Amino acid sequence: MCGIIAYVGNKSNAGKILFEGLHTLEYRGYDSSGIALINEKNNIKIYKKKGIVKLAKKKFLKEKISSKIGIGHTRWATHGEPNNKNSHPILSYSKNFAIVHNGIIENYSILKKILEEKGYKFRTDTDTEVLINFIEEINKKSKFDFENSLNTALRQIRGAFAIAIINKKIPNYLYGARRGSPLVVGISENNFFLASDASPIVKHTNDVIYLKDNEIVKISSENLKITNLKKEKINPEVKKIELKIEEIEKGGYDSFMLKEIMEQPKSIKRSMLGRINVNKKNLFINGINDYVKKLLNAKRIIIVGCGTSWHAGLVAEYFFEKYTRIPVEVEYGSEFRYRNPILNSDDVVFFISQSGETADTLESVKITKKKGATALGIVNNVGSSIARITDEGCYLHAGPEIGVASTKAFTSQLIILFMIGVRLSNRLNIIKQKKYVEMIYQLNNIPKLVEEILEQRNKIKNIAKIIYKKNSCLFMGRGTNFPVGLEGALKLKEISYIHAEGYPAAELKHGPIALLEKGTPVIVICTRSDEYEKTIANIEEVKARKAMVIAILDSKNKHVSEMVDYSIVVPQIKNDFSPILNIIPLQLLAYYVAKYKGLDVDKPRNLAKSVTVE
Ligand code: M6R
Repeated sequence: MCGIIAYVGNKSNAGKILFEGLHTLEYRGYDSSGIALINEKNNIKIYKKKGIVKLAKKKFLKEKISSKIGIGHTRWATHGEPNNKNSHPILSYSKNFAIVHNGIIENYSILKKILEEKGYKFRTDTDTEVLINFIEEINKKSKFDFENSLNTALRQIRGAFAIAIINKKIPNYLYGARRGSPLVVGISENNFFLASDASPIVKHTNDVIYLKDNEIVKISSENLKITNLKKEKINPEVKKIELKIEEIEKGGYDSFMLKEIMEQPKSIKRSMLGRINVNKKNLFINGINDYVKKLLNAKRIIIVGCGTSWHAGLVAEYFFEKYTRIPVEVEYGSEFRYRNPILNSDDVVFFISQSGETADTLESVKITKKKGATALGIVNNVGSSIARITDEGCYLHAGPEIGVASTKAFTSQLIILFMIGVRLSNRLNIIKQKKYVEMIYQLNNIPKLVEEILEQRNKIKNIAKIIYKKNSCLFMGRGTNFPVGLEGALKLKEISYIHAEGYPAAELKHGPIALLEKGTPVIVICTRSDEYEKTIANIEEVKARKAMVIAILDSKNKHVSEMVDYSIVVPQIKNDFSPILNIIPLQLLAYYVAKYKGLDVDKPRNLAKSVTVE
């Protein structure tokens, strides 16, 4: 949700550095982009444009000015429509300061009114312009001490922000601050970077500082100083990022989404690495070791997430309840945080998040901790806010996920949740040793089975060709595969813009069946389970309305294959692990449908990779 990159140092190609960074960050928002530089005459030069990064860069390349300091931004619009004027960077009224901002200023309308009464005129519809003018107004009063002005202003701001600011009156200094939205400082000798995440920094350095909420950083090529809002000096902890450049490149694929779908055998394996030990016939979830006892005695487990991560939580609800008999509730972060949830010290709450920065999930962690319950994270992005503030947690180790549609993070979330469920169940003596070992073998074999499904991609592509002109699709499954239907529908709608809904198969007759017409695609997840026969009966109901059934099967059941219009056969797997296989064809289906429609799968309209605003 908006990407920030900023640079100050001894290189005079700041513009190039910033645009390279913006290309890497584009997955965070692509409504508009731009940079602001301070040139040799100490003037602020801005190059920004509605649309993808390439367009703003084109403007810059016409002038190609040399500069050693600048800020850049790729936008996902919140206040003000995505157009040229609302693009960041945004200048203050005097044009002395330029700012880039990720987040939402909640009290912007009151501040705007105050500023207007003082004679400020606004050139954009953004809350960001209010923020920079508010800083400017305070700066006028505080005898032009910018650091103090920033501090005073931020203490009066409500809402979330990560900001980077340049000031032509002190042209060698870059300022940054955060609350709620992430900001990372990269350090490479006399060159410093500020960014929303480590991905644009890794090209330059592995040394980073993760700024904490309410910290302000002041940087020149000589010096870096961090203070908090109480004006206390902070001794920063420099950490190493483990990201490799290849991991954030497309590696020969036409999109990050396809690359990430195809690398799932590897990413799932990475999630199991060091956790599953087939030789020792055991599995270890070291990340949450200190809380295993708490989990075993938990009165209830709550799982919180948004979007795809919430779907992973739903799969876990079925799995955990079946195998641990501990009651499980699954909550959207956006609902959980506002309903004063009843939490006790013997509740354990899992927070699932690929990015580790989703605002609603992050806020839910804070509430959980305040209420004294245990907060455990299942996060992909190492060093992210959720990973840092939860009591303990398991990293997915799926590698960076850049495609806006989450794919490999989902399967890694599932494998982690399955491992936790199996381990707990064994400790609770519900899964006995023999079955425990058998399940470990099955989990270990999943990457190979995923590979087998990926090999069928041409068949799935052919099915996509049949449905890409349709207006609406339904997905249905039962039990643990109902959330797979939800996830399949989410994938299709977010990248192909085809209306899609997921339902528990039996629920169709309670309403959605009215939507069925001749040829409406209904994707049915019908792999073997206790409810298998019942799902087949649901297929009959759909076929009776002349809808088009595409079935995910796990055996060549002649009767079902003949009944449905198209089938995709996935390998058989036991013990409720099937969601991790069944989602793969649905990811591929969504991908190929979007490709047939000529859409950019990595930059679906209106979306951004990480939702750091509520
Ligand atoms: O980073 P998170 O897992 O917390 O993100 C949650 C959702 O925003 C995310 O899963 C979103 O729904 C994806 N676009 C789904 O593909």
